[in-house]
Amino acid sequence: MTTTQIIHVDPHNPDPAAIAVAARALAHGQLVAFPTETVYGLGANALDAAAVARIFAAKQRPTTDPLIVHLASADQLGRVTLDIPPVALRLAARFWPGPLTLVLRRGCDVPPNVSAGRNTVAVRVPAHPVAHALLAACGLPVAAPSANLFSRPSPTTAQHVLDDLAGRVDIVLDGGTTTIGLESTVIDLTQTPPVLLRPGGASVEALRALLPDLRVPDAPLITATAEAAAAPGSLLRHYAPRAPLFLLRGDAHAAQHFIRAAVIALHARGVRVGILVPDEEFAGYTDLHVELVGLGPAHDLAAIGRYLFARLREVDSLGVDVILVRGVADGDDSDGLGPAIRDRLFRAAEGRVLDATLEAVPALLSLISDNIARNE
Ligand code: TXA
Ligand code: MG
Repeated sequence: MTTTQIIHVDPHNPDPAAIAVAARALAHGQLVAFPTETVYGLGANALDAAAVARIFAAKQRPTTDPLIVHLASADQLGRVTLDIPPVALRLAARFWPGPLTLVLRRGCDVPPNVSAGRNTVAVRVPAHPVAHALLAACGLPVAAPSANLFSRPSPTTAQHVLDDLAGRVDIVLDGGTTTIGLESTVIDLTQTPPVLLRPGGASVEALRALLPDLRVPDAPLITATAEAAAAPGSLLRHYAPRAPLFLLRGDAHAAQHFIRAAVIALHARGVRVGILVPDEEFAGYTDLHVELVGLGPAHDLAAIGRYLFARLREVDSLGVDVILVRGVADGDDSDGLGPAIRDRLFRAAEGRVLDATLEAVPALLSLISDNIARNE
């Protein structure tokens, strides 16, 4: 355990003296959590294998799951990657700084543990002024996964970082709430054609303008074991609250009937229920004794995305036995944040997705009894 120092910084115009303290810590092999435009990252000098090992230990992250290396600018790509294809430079020019991560061939100076032993490395240039100032001040490539404990929802405030990692990180730069709230889009440029590994802040539609042959796997890349995963971070148990979460597919009307019926049946069995629904659907539940948390306005995916992880943490902190979530962004759009929101909800549910029909209520009840029994 270590003493975690919290340094408040202006997210738009961070104090250079505060940034210098954090930059020195990185240069000395320490861990610094910092805000990016997506989520908070847990940073260490990417060229220092021992510092990188501390990231895995602090997060309790399997060493089979590789990290993203953050750069101050695309000019530093040559320090950490090899054989940079021209399309990488075009993507960098269009999307950086911003929420896009590129998987390229790993450069010789990057220790293997950054990439979990692979010969590739994921890189991105974040757009947040605090992240940029830190990267520029330390002059180092910085390996940084999301600053949460492994499998917990990603952190979008400094408080989330402290909730998971107080005593495990040397410095937390508190720059307020992150703006996008969902992690970067990850694409693998070492495969032909290039493959989408994780939907995120940069939309597939925008990427296709420069990468018309981008392969987008139908279902999220989800596998049961870290070793077997094509995208190593695509474990099913990810972003998961502690209480089992069930995702309901269907329109507002169907979902309301289903959730009400399920809540009444669950209450009869003494099960405490938390529900997560779009703000405008609150009225349908206020007469029930449930913990209600709003996802945001149903049609404002930017707002839903920004607060999604915070809401998952919130509903989980209410001490409920089970969480029911009305799925949003269920269209088959490839623009905007829809795919990223669907992906994160699906993972939070660990694949427990049900169609919201009244016939499905008994199935839900038996699934819930199984899951609660297993959690005890
Ligand atoms: O927005 C973000 O990307 C945030 C901020 C802090 O930058 N970072 C983040 O890191 O989400 P993390 O570690 O939570 O997710 C990194 C993802 C994982 O799914 C990981 O498996 C994948 O990127 N990844 C990293 N290196 C890879 C590689 N060499 N090949 C394939 N996938 C890789
Ligand atoms: Mg993560």
